Amino acid sequence: MRKLAIFVSGGGTNLQRIAEYFANDSRVGIACVVSNNKDAYANKRAENLGIPLILIDRQKFNDKAFSEQLKAMDVDLIVLAGFLWLIPQHLIDAFPNKIINIHPALLPKYGGKGFYGHHVHEAVVAAHEKESGITIHYVNERYDSGDIIFQKKVALSATDTPDDVAAKIHVLEQENFPVVIENLLFDKK
Ligand code: GAR
Repeated sequence: MRKLAIFVSGGGTNLQRIAEYFANDSRVGIACVVSNNKDAYANKRAENLGIPLILIDRQKFNDKAFSEQLKAMDVDLIVLAGFLWLIPQHLIDAFPNKIINIHPALLPKYGGKGFYGHHVHEAVVAAHEKESGITIHYVNERYDSGDIIFQKKVALSATDTPDDVAAKIHVLEQENFPVVIENLLFDKK
């Protein structure tokens, strides 16, 4: 069985979708949810889904023992699903090309520190962009700059508010993220 570790900081709609997508697939399991926010609704989702939750603080996150803990759980792929901390070098070294992130814009535009969640959609609307989208990419030691695995675009209209853009992005994420994960796990193109 291929095992995922899903890292979260917020609402956890991507976590929910990924868990439901693989619920009846005996080839894939979610070993744990890792959260850096004790108040995240994603934590509650993990509990409801019956997935072990690991709450981390900066100290635990930066300690090599954390990589070893995930290795001991036989994690194959780390999935950042709305996780907002930069990944430490020890994790990148322990999981080379095995950490992916979803970003709610068409990188390299609207990426980097501070561009997360609603901030991204506000910037996209302020710039009168005619399209936005999602990017799924490998994670390196800098924000939003690893190799791109997958992008999908959506058209925006001149009247779209940041909330409207967020809703369109949410649909793209729900449709595509689990499928891209499945393809990566099983080397499909
Ligand atoms: C998602 O839209 C994801 O793309 C974004 O946070 C949201 C998390 O939603 N990630 C980033 O902005 C990373 N820079 P969720 O907690 O409901 O899955």
